[in-house]
Amino acid sequence: MNIIVCQNYDHLSDYAKDLVINTINNNDKPVLGLATGSTPEGMYQALIKAYQEKHVSFKDVTTFNLDEYIGLGKEDPNSYHHFMDEHLFNYVDIDQNETFVPPGNTDNHEQACLDYEQNMHRHGDIDLQVLGLGVNGHIGFNEPGTPFDTRTHVIELDESTRVANARFFDSIDDVPTHAITMGIETIMESKQIVLLASGDSKKEAVQRLVNGEETPDFPASILHRHNNVTVILDRDAASLLS
Ligand code: F6R
Repeated sequence: MNIIVCQNYDHLSDYAKDLVINTINNNDKPVLGLATGSTPEGMYQALIKAYQEKHVSFKDVTTFNLDEYIGLGKEDPNSYHHFMDEHLFNYVDIDQNETFVPPGNTDNHEQACLDYEQNMHRHGDIDLQVLGLGVNGHIGFNEPGTPFDTRTHVIELDESTRVANARFFDSIDDVPTHAITMGIETIMESKQIVLLASGDSKKEAVQRLVNGEETPDFPASILHRHNNVTVILDRDAASLLS
């Protein structure tokens, strides 16, 4: 696990942007795994700027997002589909038919999970997977206790996750209770993984990620088994590391 501690959030975002651009520029048909949430917002902004300055083109890129809330359609402002449109897809030259987010509002979620896996399989392995880190150690929405061998599946969100994400909704009661998420095994099949964590609220989780034991109680701990993981932190998130 390669750990990079950046001066601040802007540097973290810039560092992550460069890794994404390297992946795009070094593959004919790059496949990216993408995360939503607050942490990668700066990286997406930096990618849009790089696109505008002609340092990168997304025209041959395919993307698969990690997760989506169940019950939210893609027009819903709180859906991750909408987040991706607003934070990246609408502002770069990506083929929107090559951007995939698990569907939050199908009537057969089990089938949707299988279809999502099959679609990823058809595109080959993910070249670079971007991850955030939940305060409880979740990656994607794989909450503590999720077996390491899961593939894309439906999960009940932890109360701590719903509380953490309530800031985007009018009230906690509006935060969906379930989500579709890529599984831990699915994530681990990516060729390269970049995990971003920023801010004081992540410092305990980062300490446990770096120094803790490998256990399903802290899903991100599986990343020690992967041979190409870069953890990019800002100073606050890294403050408990010695
Ligand atoms: C989002 C995702 C989640 C977030 C995590 C951190 O697609 O998969 O695991 O990365 O909850 O969220 P933020 O960045 O908002 O702190």
